[in-house]
Amino acid sequence: MQSSKFKVQSSNSLLLLLVLLLLPQAAGAQARGGKTPWWKHAVFYEIYPRSFKDSDGDGVGDLNGITSKLEYLARLGVDAVWITPFYPSPQVDFGYDVSDYEAVDPQFGTLADFDRLIKEAHKRKIRVVIDFVLNHTSDQHPFFKESRSSRTNPKRDWYIWRDPKPDGSRPNNWSSSFGPVAWTLDEQTGQFYYHYFYPQQPELNWRNPAVERRMFETVRFWLKRGADGFRLDAINYLFEDPQLRDNPVLPELRPGTTTGEHLQEKKYNRDLPEVQDVMVRLRAFNDSVNPESVLIGEAYVPKWEELMRYYGPSDNGVHLPFNFFLIMEPARTHLDAGVFRSVIEASEKALRGRWTTYVLSNHDNPRHYDRYGDGKHNDLIAKLTATMLLTLRGSPFLYYGEEIGMTTTEPKTIDEVRDPVGRRYWPANKGRDGERTPMQWDATANAGFTTGKPWLPVPTSYRERNVDAQEGDANSLLSFYRRLVELRRRSPALLDGSYASVGDDPHVYAYQRVARGQQVVVALNMSNERQTFRPPPPTSTGPSVYRLALSSLPRTEPRGVSGELSLAPFEAVILESRGQ
Ligand code: NOJ
Ligand code: MG
Repeated sequence: MQSSKFKVQSSNSLLLLLVLLLLPQAAGAQARGGKTPWWKHAVFYEIYPRSFKDSDGDGVGDLNGITSKLEYLARLGVDAVWITPFYPSPQVDFGYDVSDYEAVDPQFGTLADFDRLIKEAHKRKIRVVIDFVLNHTSDQHPFFKESRSSRTNPKRDWYIWRDPKPDGSRPNNWSSSFGPVAWTLDEQTGQFYYHYFYPQQPELNWRNPAVERRMFETVRFWLKRGADGFRLDAINYLFEDPQLRDNPVLPELRPGTTTGEHLQEKKYNRDLPEVQDVMVRLRAFNDSVNPESVLIGEAYVPKWEELMRYYGPSDNGVHLPFNFFLIMEPARTHLDAGVFRSVIEASEKALRGRWTTYVLSNHDNPRHYDRYGDGKHNDLIAKLTATMLLTLRGSPFLYYGEEIGMTTTEPKTIDEVRDPVGRRYWPANKGRDGERTPMQWDATANAGFTTGKPWLPVPTSYRERNVDAQEGDANSLLSFYRRLVELRRRSPALLDGSYASVGDDPHVYAYQRVARGQQVVVALNMSNERQTFRPPPPTSTGPSVYRLALSSLPRTEPRGVSGELSLAPFEAVILESRGQ
């Protein structure tokens, strides 16, 4: 009896082991044979609603503004938009301080506007992903107001409250992302509360199951209203060390400070293992409401191994943990073939076939148009980085305005600064206003963004650099993005294909994508000089030459490409060969 029971158990565990070992491959097989999840083939477009399009003249963009531009987005070819927070908020962190999770801030519109946006987007086959700010609320959220009202309030434990140390000082040395310290004393109840971000963003206590239950209900609310998924804000900060141990202090001072403010290793308040358990439960909850919806996780982590944990122990966590390694050093500022090759190879190695995202710009980082631009060939360089973004193995995320080459336009004086962190650390850190300026639609007043006074100044470049001007120009950056998106949509190799770097040229970063008999080679000349590139021979079953599928400079290769190719400075080309 005993032994046969044991046998059954052990063969069960063997089976389980086998299933676990085969899982990544099984996921790949599903993509090939079964239905591919929509987000794997999607081009995403991030919209910062304050700055996209204002429909009512108050100088702040809104949901109806977005709806009015869906046709533009459909023409660009995007499959999904991610809209950053539009919920009621005191706007200290421009919406990342939410005071009601299940409504729309009047300056952005109404729930009816949201419903219409969903309907109109879906009509055009555009999915709508929204932001879920689950690490913290606004200090004006009723949960926090109740929590701070007394030490015995039932919601007291929904946030992280601690007594001062015996000398009256804060519970530990943790610093805030926006500086300087992560604890604020509540005079009335005599305790400190914890906030990794602004003091107006108190952190929820995710160790309390009631918090989890309530926050998951928000997921249900928006999925039922038609949202197609969530971008999860700051997930790596969900948990804090229960003993609140001090973080190790690093030797470097915080940029912009001269005394005292040292950087810290966030050993005890970032990426605690408990985060992964919540992500697995959130995924299960999400799947139970709408299994087609996507979870995209925001976690800036220094190493790939840390990011991999967000996929969940058996790929049952976040679908797409954001891959920010192109926004981080060493790829952040250097257009260097060797650097890009090695950063992307490291991604591929860590991923072992899993899906990822690629992103070059967002509302928290200077726009990549300037980061990589050399001041002379900026548009050409932007075409090159766009080529890379849209041809790597993963889902690309565009940031509004990058398709027309909007630049980072920082405030000129401290009085102009809107993002509070920019005022605190001026001028070393001017805040994030620079990458959030209004979308440049046309050459009319305020770039066609608003008829009122825009909440941030419109860069003067708008007169020449705008959507209207670029729509009519076949050589514009916008036209190039459109061609790229279109090419990607039709290419099995670019959508699903394998990835392999080609060669190790110090100036030309090249790679090959292969799927279903199609072979695509992308060659990016990251130098300011002509370079020779020799593509690998096309596969034996196909024709012996490549077709030139796209290039960032006008060129003709009437008989196709077989041997060497001479690439102009910063030129990008895409070659294609199809088997018989
Ligand atoms: C990440 C968001 O992208 C950023 O804009 C915000 O300030 C922080 N999380 C806090 O919510
Ligand atoms: Mg937290």
